[in-house]
Amino acid sequence: METKLKPAGRMQITYDGKTSELPVFSGTHGPNVVDIRSFYKNTGCFTFDPGFTSTASCESQITFIDGDEGVLLYRGYPIEELAERSDFLEVAYLLLHGELPNKAQQAEFNHAITMHTMVHEQLKRFYNGFRSDAHPMAIMVGVVGALSAFYHDSTDITDPKQRVIASHRLIAKIPTLAAMAYKYSIGQPFVFPQNRLSYTANFMNMCFAVPAEEYKLNPVLVDALDKIFILHMDHEQNASTSTVRLAGSSGANPFACIAAGIASLWGPSHGGANEAALNMLEEIGTVDRIPHYIAKAKDKDSGFRLMGFGHRVYKNYDPRGKVMRKACHDVLGALGIKNDPLLDVALELERIALSDSYFIEKKLYPNIDFYSGITLKALGFPKSMFTVLFALARTVGWIAQWTEMLEDDSQKIGRPRQLYTGTARRAYKPIDRR
Ligand code: CMC
Repeated sequence: METKLKPAGRMQITYDGKTSELPVFSGTHGPNVVDIRSFYKNTGCFTFDPGFTSTASCESQITFIDGDEGVLLYRGYPIEELAERSDFLEVAYLLLHGELPNKAQQAEFNHAITMHTMVHEQLKRFYNGFRSDAHPMAIMVGVVGALSAFYHDSTDITDPKQRVIASHRLIAKIPTLAAMAYKYSIGQPFVFPQNRLSYTANFMNMCFAVPAEEYKLNPVLVDALDKIFILHMDHEQNASTSTVRLAGSSGANPFACIAAGIASLWGPSHGGANEAALNMLEEIGTVDRIPHYIAKAKDKDSGFRLMGFGHRVYKNYDPRGKVMRKACHDVLGALGIKNDPLLDVALELERIALSDSYFIEKKLYPNIDFYSGITLKALGFPKSMFTVLFALARTVGWIAQWTEMLEDDSQKIGRPRQLYTGTARRAYKPIDRR
């Protein structure tokens, strides 16, 4: 990556008689950054920022979020436009290459992906090793990491050609592996990929087709899922993306790095939130019970939070949430679901939260997960698959970020410092004196 850092000024920090003069850089959008790389050398101090609330961990040219304005851009393009006008593989190309493809580039890329959709036959045996009630995310962490044991010809990260092949393999195989995890969990036979179908239609076919009868794909549902995938593809330096970068910074192979990203995504504060949001809507059950849950969410001692509300970065309506809300209505409309009690609860909860002073003051708006659970459920996916679908889409972003990191000349192994507050140095005590 060619750096686009622009000098914007300098900042002086003096501590204990030592002054550190730090360059300040500005990017294309977003706050300026103070470059603290020389800070420790000049002052003997570390900076302290648990949760990275004020720390830019890297320079990146892929995705930009303006949390106050509710803006999300992939390579400069607003997410709403991409979700409306593009499709999965075109957006994947954009994230990986920086520009939308022309016709020839698109044909070549689509061909490269579809040629890798099958997985090694031996990999299927991994599935049989899992209990039938295993969480599909547990299976995904295992089988995606296991790809490193099958594709030795694309694990040398110093070879740009191998990096590209590994990227294509991961994007192509992740739907196959995800659909296999689903089929395994419901005791149905695996369905082979069909390369005549689009990326998302193929995934739905692998999930919902059975050998016994014909499965007819509904284009409205395929389109809605394609949009959901586009919305989830990348999101700057979130926990799972930072995990992928950190794992990759040591030189680990791409399959292992993406498996690490999947593990990080699994948590309920990150990718697991859509499952948690749907659980919450089900628990609330009816509109009349909402005030009780709103009161609980405001009560700090309850430990309860309204799942699907609030975001570390968005302090405005999550732009993905707006697209998701429409996709949700499209899906329910296409399926003829008119009176879904969960949707009634969701709409009323959203209305109340958007007008309640607690949520307004804390800028807690509905996030993408608020509507995605209802939509995915209507599409026929069980809750346990929600985060798997997120992982499928985010794989593209993880790969784009991992590639960018490896192409960055200033890349170093990630090694945060710490503020040690444990016991001071002491001598070992033999057991009879403890
Ligand atoms: N319900 C009620 N109160 C909340 C909520 C919520 N969902 N979220 C934050 N707050 C309160 C919180 O109690 C705190 O109050 P106070 O200032 O009085 O201590 C204040 O708002 C700030 O919260 P925070 O935890 O400091 O904010 P954060 O930026 O660290 O957390 C979050 C962001 C997403 C973890 C949090 O809002 C949350 O737990 N939301 C519910 C889970 C959720 O929907 N997660 C999906 C995130 S979007 C998917 C993705 O991009 O990965």
